[in-house]
Amino acid sequence: MYSFFYFRKEKNRKKPKIYVTASLLDIKPTLISRKLLLYLRHIMYKSILKPILFQFDPEKVHYFTFDCLKFWMSIGFIRKIVAKKFRMEDPRLKRTVAGLTFSNPVGLAAGLDKNAQVFEELGDLGFGFIEIGTLTPKGQPGNEKPRLFRLPQDEAIINRMGFNNNGVDDAVIRLKARKNKNLIIGGNIGKNKITANEDADKDYEYCFTALFDVVDYFVVNVSSPNTPNLRALQDKEPLTNLLNKVMVLNNQKQKPKPVFLKIAPDLTNEQLDDIISIVADTKIAGVIATNTTIARAPLTSDKAKVEAIGAGGLSGKPLAKRSTEVIKYLHQNLTELSQLWV
Ligand SMILES: Cc1cc2nc3c(=O)[nH]c(=O)nc-3n(C[C@H](O)[C@H](O)[C@H](O)COP(=O)(O)O)c2cc1C
Repeated sequence: MYSFFYFRKEKNRKKPKIYVTASLLDIKPTLISRKLLLYLRHIMYKSILKPILFQFDPEKVHYFTFDCLKFWMSIGFIRKIVAKKFRMEDPRLKRTVAGLTFSNPVGLAAGLDKNAQVFEELGDLGFGFIEIGTLTPKGQPGNEKPRLFRLPQDEAIINRMGFNNNGVDDAVIRLKARKNKNLIIGGNIGKNKITANEDADKDYEYCFTALFDVVDYFVVNVSSPNTPNLRALQDKEPLTNLLNKVMVLNNQKQKPKPVFLKIAPDLTNEQLDDIISIVADTKIAGVIATNTTIARAPLTSDKAKVEAIGAGGLSGKPLAKRSTEVIKYLHQNLTELSQLWV
């Protein structure tokens, strides 16, 4: 759900090296104990922690884990130990994309740290980048609860959060105080529910300007299924206009920042072709694929349960196939310089 990698289309790109521990027999005893520790941690999570947490409402568990993370990471020596253990500083993992150097290619997608409350702590857990948001100009409560549902049998989630956030200016306060300058922060921006699509550009421009000095790259999100009519902004004309407006602002800056477009997995190939030409026309840095899907098949969970959940975006394992198809299509058709993030 929360990791994404990037692909870069380069002619002479070497195949990525994959490092595998060959067998327990030819590795050092320290590695054996590390493997054992990993195995024990895995068992503890799968057999103890996860079954307990899954007894409670997912949104409450989300905020509970946030509080736990904040509490434990506020204890200096614990934070130091965690950061030492999990921060990935291996030069082999470094990636440079759109002029930004990431300490490793695994990041946290938008939606978890919407209000930029725990990005530093998450950075210390080893993520190469954190995408905060989606943020809107004004704070808004989002959709009525419950709005987040687990489908454990499918290893999936359905959410209809509806851009619940405290507003972009509130996030800026914390982002200004960022300590870890090596951690790449993406600013995912959207529009308020009450803003009509015709005026959406003003919302995106507001968020862009507010965040410019405190994030490293931008994501224009027009692909959430949970804000009524938002996805209509993915149509060629409104999308080109919107991205052009954001890029005008960007190009007025002394050092413009990479701007990405986050797309839905439900686009047809024809719509993806439009996206490809829009990327070229507007000269944005690339595409982030994909957001959650409004499709429901194929799921193994009880049909009545899924129907009772109702509207929302599906993410997790069942989305992987469609996301990969979108990525494949874009990868085959995007131009040399274009970037595709997953
Ligand atoms: C609870 C939840 C909230 C999300 N909120 C946002 C959001 O605010 N903005 C956004 O661009 N994507 C949001 N997403 C989508 C994720 O960033 C991601 O694109 C999606 O979950 C698909 O990836 P996955 O199948 O690996 O989870 C959200 C996803 C979930 C599960």
